Amino acid sequence: MSLNSVGQFPNYRPRRLRQSPAMRRLVQETRLSADQLVLPLFVRAGKKLRQPISSMPGVFQLSPDEMLVEARNAHDAGVPAVLLFGIPETKDAKASGAYAQNGIVQKAVRLLKKELPDLLVITDVCLCEYMSHGHCGIVEARGRVLNDPSLKLLARAAVSHAEAGADIVAPSDMMDGRVRALREALDTNGFLDMPILSYAAKFASAYYGPFREAAESAPQFGDRRSYQMNGANAEEAMREVAMDIQEGADMVMVKPALAYLDILYRVKTEFGYPTAAYSVSAEYSMIKAAAAKGWIDERAVMMETLLSMRRAGADILITYAAADVARWLKS
Ligand code: PBG
Ligand code: ZN
Repeated sequence: MSLNSVGQFPNYRPRRLRQSPAMRRLVQETRLSADQLVLPLFVRAGKKLRQPISSMPGVFQLSPDEMLVEARNAHDAGVPAVLLFGIPETKDAKASGAYAQNGIVQKAVRLLKKELPDLLVITDVCLCEYMSHGHCGIVEARGRVLNDPSLKLLARAAVSHAEAGADIVAPSDMMDGRVRALREALDTNGFLDMPILSYAAKFASAYYGPFREAAESAPQFGDRRSYQMNGANAEEAMREVAMDIQEGADMVMVKPALAYLDILYRVKTEFGYPTAAYSVSAEYSMIKAAAAKGWIDERAVMMETLLSMRRAGADILITYAAADVARWLKS
């Protein structure tokens, strides 16, 4: 569109199409729908456990039975998918819980697929929650996070999720070559049809703070800047996404979402792949906190924020508010 095209119509009055709710509805370009929503869930061992996460009001660490309740509520509200994170009972230096056949996520997947077969179960594939040191890969003596040895564990984790019945696996570790490693391992084990949703452009971000309380996955030393991306780099994000697609990603993600809408826009425009925006923990917590103070209208701000992600090109919205949003869309 050029300025010229407006200039050619001197009688153009944009307010003509803003006169009434029906008129505005007719010409609305972008829409939010429950179909696009994914609800993250944190699951840990136990019974009747709903452990509140203080920095994320309304979000809990859930035992499998309570997770099922939460998943069912979301599903009933119209949310088509959940994204599972596990908090293991014990952590070690090789993330054993991440690929244990009877690990917490593997159990949760089996339960969800048995009780709610139509709800899509996406599993986050990473090692940080299961590592004693909290990093997303194997750490060598001097504290360096090793790339290639970590791939084997990540691939094992993905295969174990597939065996449990997961519908989609979502690697979030940011090791180089992990999408290929997962694809090869899944194919070798007969899971040729298992889609990979890659956290392709994942930035090292202070917006993950509340999540690390929720998942008990804060790194015990250092930070994640040697594997997650520098928030200043947009060109590099495009290379990361291109690489993941070449390696076999079926869907790609930009994370965080709100502070990276330009990346989201470029990724969708350039690659045209199914693109997910992860509206991360602090994006949720900031809205909740300001709303609790009475400073903003929670519902309106949440909807406007998620709509901005749709406008930027997101097909899929991962948000802790998914169930609320789905209900709001109906009322
Ligand atoms: C684990 C992982 C993180 C998030 C999703 N998967 C934390 C991190 O990378 O430190 C963050 C999600 C959020 O903040 O909501 N690799
Ligand atoms: Zn991780």
